[in-house]
Amino acid sequence: MHGQLRVAIAGAGMVARVHADAVRRAGARLVGVSASTPERGKAAAAELGAERAFDTSEDLVVSDEVDVVHICTPNGLHRPLAELALRAGKHVVCEKPLATSAAEAAELTRLASGQGVVTAVPFVYRYHPMAAEARARVRSGALGPVHLLHGHYLQDWLADPADSNWRVDPVAGGPSRAFADIGSHWCDLAEWITGHRITELVASTATVHGERSAAMSGTFTAPAAGGAVATEAVATEDAAHLLFRTDQGATGSLLVSQVSPGRKNRLWLEVDAAGASVTFDQEKPETLLLGRRESTEVLSRDAALLAPDAARLSTLPPGHPLGYADCFAAFVRDVHDAVRGGEPRHPGFADAARTAALTDAVLASADSRSWTEVHA
Ligand SMILES: NC(=O)c1ccc[n+]([C@@H]2O[C@H](COP(=O)([O-])OP(=O)(O)OC[C@H]3O[C@@H](n4cnc5c(N)ncnc54)[C@H](O)[C@@H]3O)[C@@H](O)[C@H]2O)c1
Repeated sequence: MHGQLRVAIAGAGMVARVHADAVRRAGARLVGVSASTPERGKAAAAELGAERAFDTSEDLVVSDEVDVVHICTPNGLHRPLAELALRAGKHVVCEKPLATSAAEAAELTRLASGQGVVTAVPFVYRYHPMAAEARARVRSGALGPVHLLHGHYLQDWLADPADSNWRVDPVAGGPSRAFADIGSHWCDLAEWITGHRITELVASTATVHGERSAAMSGTFTAPAAGGAVATEAVATEDAAHLLFRTDQGATGSLLVSQVSPGRKNRLWLEVDAAGASVTFDQEKPETLLLGRRESTEVLSRDAALLAPDAARLSTLPPGHPLGYADCFAAFVRDVHDAVRGGEPRHPGFADAARTAALTDAVLASADSRSWTEVHA
């Protein structure tokens, strides 16, 4: 594909803004955007600097004016919009979760593989240089076999029963909330760094607040001040504890929570191998902890000292911190390279179908209170 790529974004919320910046940084045209209503679409086009607004996301994803579609809507719309886009021959970047069930995610992945287009899902924590450095060191074998994987992903923006969001509603968000929303990121990163695959797990989920405000607030946004509002029963989990085993004989544990006061986006992942451990903390992504019995080092991001796959992501001099938005920029650059015929390096639909299978297993295990195989 020659010339500037033409990108359109369905959805106009928190993550759509990050996508829009990344699209521009990759040198593509942001030709359109859609929101929940035509009026909101127009406002979003002005805010995001898109060339035009589409009245509906259904129009946007099939438009002849568009080469690459980004789907940044609430979860329940991902599968239908992605399917329309694929059938129209578009390259598709779809936010996680790809679908709200493993079966639908697998079906979409099968459909995509027959279309000859590029698919992508923003498991963007892979794009922190020090996460890539962790991968390079673990995969080199220099640390020895991996025995234990553990960590957590903790947030607090849903810690109060007055907090609510479309994610709480199983129709808009899907049957799993905390795990599908953020546990999926942790599992993707853990499997990507180690090359292990989680084959069975036992999960216990918790809905700390059985009732929440019926008034929805925005993502990462506190509810509006005011008097008492009606409440609604909550059917999705606030937190999940997991124990798991991998295909290469490691064991692990994970806590995922959206109700942990003081924790914002605390994705913490530790890999304990025979000779050393590596620890990545998403809130301090410029360093990696390398632990040995004799000494523990804090490695700082410095392209000159990093493995090639980590150095290529190190796009600013050391000491000038890279962050979340830079991960998105690097991800979109990789996706656009693939659209132009380059070797794909980015996470795709198959990776998202895998996390959807993990989500199904978490819900099934919590229901049955037993160890459950992951079918993917
Ligand atoms: N990969 C990541 O790191 C990451 C981070 C945040 C969110 N996400 C994913 O991105 C998606 C959006 O999350 P968010 O945090 O931006 O939520 P958000 O609530 O901030 O934004 C969602 C937007 O979609 C709009 N919308 C609703 N119906 C629509 C429709 N039919 N067409 C177009 N837009 C519509 C809403 O008005 C809202 O502006 C979710 O699926 C979420 O899981 C991924």
